[in-house]
Amino acid sequence: MPDQPSGPADKPRGPELFTWEFATDPYPAYAWLRENSPVHRTTLPSGVDAWLVTRYADARQALADQRLSKNPAHHDEPAHAKGKTGIPGERKAELMTHLLNIDPPDHTRLRRLVSKAFTPRRVAEFAPRVQELTDALIDAILDKQGAEGGGAGKGEADLIHEFAFPLPIYAICDLLGVPREDQDDFRDWAGMMIRHQGGPRGGVARSVKKMRGYLVQLIHRKRLEPGDDLISGLIRASDHGEHLTANEAAAMAFILLFAGFETTVNLIGNGMYALLTHSEQRQRLQQALAEGDTGLLETGVEELLRFDGPVELATWRFATQELTIGGQEIGVGDPVLVVLAAADRDPERFERPDTLDLSRTDNTHLGYGHGIHYCLGAPLARLEGQTALATLLRRLPDLQLAADPADLRWRGGLIMRGLRTLPVEFTTAQ
Ligand code: HEM
Repeated sequence: MPDQPSGPADKPRGPELFTWEFATDPYPAYAWLRENSPVHRTTLPSGVDAWLVTRYADARQALADQRLSKNPAHHDEPAHAKGKTGIPGERKAELMTHLLNIDPPDHTRLRRLVSKAFTPRRVAEFAPRVQELTDALIDAILDKQGAEGGGAGKGEADLIHEFAFPLPIYAICDLLGVPREDQDDFRDWAGMMIRHQGGPRGGVARSVKKMRGYLVQLIHRKRLEPGDDLISGLIRASDHGEHLTANEAAAMAFILLFAGFETTVNLIGNGMYALLTHSEQRQRLQQALAEGDTGLLETGVEELLRFDGPVELATWRFATQELTIGGQEIGVGDPVLVVLAAADRDPERFERPDTLDLSRTDNTHLGYGHGIHYCLGAPLARLEGQTALATLLRRLPDLQLAADPADLRWRGGLIMRGLRTLPVEFTTAQ
């Protein structure tokens, strides 16, 4: 349980946030905040002061409130917090003009453009490839155990590194049109970005720079030789009237990679962890899948997003004028962070919010956000999440956690929630 010390004035100070215990299980602290300080002023580990919005109704309102800008230029930055809310340095100009950092009318124009290329049909047509990638990764896990000969034995794997991590990066590279022979470079750059978050800056900066350089070249090549991929689709859409600058195209490819990568790693990781620690729910799902019923898989993946989703806090928002959220006045230039993980456990909105119920249907969770910045990649994330979890349960039916949940380490990043490793064991006779 979180600490609940009292402050000097009667007002309780609240639980300690952003500690190791908090990263492991933030939900008791969020319950306290929802109850006692639903719009809570705190100092983030980076030194930036921000408001945390934890109730579902307030969160939904804030996500759709256009007085809250996504543009970090609206941050009233004190000197010590300079650059802490965005990508710092010279990359700012180059990669910052992406969807999550801009407001209408630029946002409307760019979102319309990318929506023309990133269609539900493109995602649906991609399903066989996602299945192929998923099977190939499970084959590699099984091959590693020397199981090819068919002998029964115990196998082991780290589902984050061997499965959840590579799947989304290969998938998004394929979709964007990054040639297969270059995809391992992306895997390395992305690995550097995810591993060293909040850690040493140099390696991350180098990886971002290399990725950007590569994307600019790729966009140039696709202009000369368009294909059937998403980048060519983007260029085609922009050639039909609406303008997309070279910088905007690179920033768009970058945000698709960036927004579509670690989120999906964590959907698979957090989702599988929740299934492995809720055996009755997992058995129901396995049973339904064995009977060819995919209904529970569909509601189940939504429930896993609500219960322990990949995006703990929505990305930055800044007040462009004075406004009130949940009775709290917010000053101009103040950063506002909507805590999706807290809103999605709000008992005012969800019955038995701390219970994992894969068959939950009244489930308008905020895991993909809400309003004009609602996740563009939700159909792809659903496809990957459903394919990954169903295939793991089918091909490794007796999969079990090979560690004490208390010993698992969670990444302590601000926006994302996910496991560093997920050790599992299984029988290799398939
Ligand atoms: C936006 C969650 C996967 C692309 C968002 C937002 C959330 C979110 C919460 C809104 C953030 C905010 O308002 O501050 C997720 C989750 C995913 C996932 C939980 C996986 C389970 C993907 C994938 C892609 C993607 C696979 C693309 C390949 C985007 C983009 C935006 C976005 C481009 C910005 C949209 C805009 O600003 O208009 N996502 N996402 N996401 N997501 Fe996702």
